[in-house]
Amino acid sequence: MSQAHDHYVVIGNPIEHSKSPAIHTQFALQTQQALSYERLLVPVDGFEGAIKDLIAKGVRGANVTLPFKLDAYQIATDLTPRAHAAGAVNTLKFEGDKILGDNTDGVGLVRDLVVNAGVSLQGSRILLLGAGGAARGVILPLLSELPAELVVANRTVQKAQDLLAHFHGHLVALAASSFEALSGEFDVVINATSASLSDSVPNISSSLLNKQSFAYDMMYGAKPTRFMQWASKQQSTVRDGLGMLIEQAAESFELWRGVRPDTAAVYTWLRSQLDQSS
Ligand code: ATR
Repeated sequence: MSQAHDHYVVIGNPIEHSKSPAIHTQFALQTQQALSYERLLVPVDGFEGAIKDLIAKGVRGANVTLPFKLDAYQIATDLTPRAHAAGAVNTLKFEGDKILGDNTDGVGLVRDLVVNAGVSLQGSRILLLGAGGAARGVILPLLSELPAELVVANRTVQKAQDLLAHFHGHLVALAASSFEALSGEFDVVINATSASLSDSVPNISSSLLNKQSFAYDMMYGAKPTRFMQWASKQQSTVRDGLGMLIEQAAESFELWRGVRPDTAAVYTWLRSQLDQSS
């Protein structure tokens, strides 16, 4: 590693398919920042040791992905409000003895929806599917957009109820639901379940969507996910999570470097890379 550069890593297990090095390298070129960004495979029980080692080597920050987002939350000495609300950390910034933990996933989703896709969340009726870490990470940033209502539905309804217990005191109507008990139509439906990984779709009624609805899957790939295919059949507008991936990276980059990269150019480039790999 050259001493003239600042160093960053993305930590995970597995990590070989992470697109973060490609994204951050593009951001650095664009903004003329002298930095390197590498993947770091860490054993599942080796997170704390890896962080100490990175700090000792003078690394400036890290992105953290599965399965370490809770470990990163615990190791942080300081947390941003959104990381505290998410209960998980995807971005660490090392500053002397301080380890700042942030979570940029939710704001990445909101920016992709509002800025890139032009979806108006204020006053809307939002359905969030799933109650795991991915869902929890986006709730506070969604509430900050002041929708009229946010319903969190999960296959295991108790988990949705437990999740919402963390988010009382907002001006937004909040409700936990099973898939079966959902009713009415939603302006925005966000799939934060891992159902797409098993090529399945959450078991919800197609009557929850209409032609004006916007359906967002946090997963992405070369082809539309099963959830997107299902929502397209209801003639809703669909979008996958590639933009969220790039926007969360841009938020991390800004936290570390104090400059905001142009995400649109990187989105176009990464989408074409995905298309070529299919
Ligand atoms: P993550 O960190 O990605 O959110 P997780 O914490 O394991 O991962 O949560 C996975 C989420 O996807 C859960 O909400 C899970 O529902 P349950 O709590 O009922 O298990 C949901 N999920 C996974 N596969 C699903 C499927 N085939 N249909 C619907 N929901 C599914």
